[in-house]
Amino acid sequence: MTNRAAYLLAAKTQLEVKDAPLEKPGPREVLIRNRTLAINPVDTKMQDYGVIIEEYPYILGLEVAGEIEGVGDEVTKFKKGDRVAALGAAIRTKKLAHAGFQLFTCASDITVAHIPEDLSYSSAVVLPLGLTTAAAGLYEHAYLGQPIPSAVASNELEETDRAILIWGGSSSVGSCAIQLAIASGLTVLTTASEKNISYVMGLGAHHVFDHSKDDVIEKLINVATGKKLIGAYDAISTKGTSGKCAEILHHFGGGTIFATIPGTSSVWGDFMNEGLKNGKLRAKPDPVVIQGGLEECQKALDLYRQGVSAAKIVVEL
Ligand SMILES: NC(=O)c1ccc[n+]([C@@H]2O[C@H](COP(=O)([O-])OP(=O)(O)OC[C@H]3O[C@@H](n4cnc5c(N)ncnc54)[C@H](OP(=O)(O)O)[C@@H]3O)[C@@H](O)[C@H]2O)c1
Repeated sequence: MTNRAAYLLAAKTQLEVKDAPLEKPGPREVLIRNRTLAINPVDTKMQDYGVIIEEYPYILGLEVAGEIEGVGDEVTKFKKGDRVAALGAAIRTKKLAHAGFQLFTCASDITVAHIPEDLSYSSAVVLPLGLTTAAAGLYEHAYLGQPIPSAVASNELEETDRAILIWGGSSSVGSCAIQLAIASGLTVLTTASEKNISYVMGLGAHHVFDHSKDDVIEKLINVATGKKLIGAYDAISTKGTSGKCAEILHHFGGGTIFATIPGTSSVWGDFMNEGLKNGKLRAKPDPVVIQGGLEECQKALDLYRQGVSAAKIVVEL
């Protein structure tokens, strides 16, 4: 068994595929034979600006899906051959074994979830980072502090009195935030371009308005009137989008805006494992699949730079 990785050998260079060490998983880690990996905005930012990386060579990539190849001594939930999706944490641990753009990735057993037999690796791989980021904003006490939802299948599509504004519902993070907020019993008010309105309604959002229209703020204020707006989740997080969220909250006397940063949370154990099985969590947005293995990672990053709309770029290995 040999490992290969798409390396960044120096700052602001193109990726190069080379042999890589095959590490053993730590006591609470699993080793995954990756079948797909996903591209995220932070990968392009790290390549373009050299941010976050402390030393080279470096390996990008935070989301993988594949089969468990080995488990650490203290791992009880997973065994060789299990189909999983996982968060690769190299961005935090600085260990290349934890990075995603390689054939084998070690991941903490806390941020690994089983995936159902009928869900492809390319679909499942869109979730790990988006779900973790969405959950950090919604559930951590320092942010919106909502109760963590259970994964029991139920119908929460009814509107409730407690509402949340999710700006950018068709983005990867927005798609996860909508699903989690609904599972937490919130009424979801969100935005998307005209062509993605039915996509976000399909995720369960209650009210969706086109973010390019001049009256979007007015329309959101109208539907929020009479409800308790618990805060805003800005899944896009530019100065313009946070400003719009602030304008809406200001109308109701103020509140908390969460802007997307990577984080961790406890939705993995129950919500992701069970939710994917019973349909409460859907693997969204849909993947745009690039075949051809690690050699195509650079092409995939370049494609992401051209922009995506309700889609995530994934590379099949
Ligand atoms: N991906 C992650 O897991 C992750 C993790 C941590 C932080 N972040 C940060 O979160 C932000 C979003 O990342 P992402 O991967 O979720 O983005 P993405 O999926 O690449 O974003 C594309 C989507 O953004 C929407 N969009 C663009 N401009 C918008 C605007 N002004 N108002 C509303 N929607 C707008 C587009 O909607 P339409 O096509 O419908 O117009 C499109 O569907 C980035 O700042 C990223 O750095 C992402």
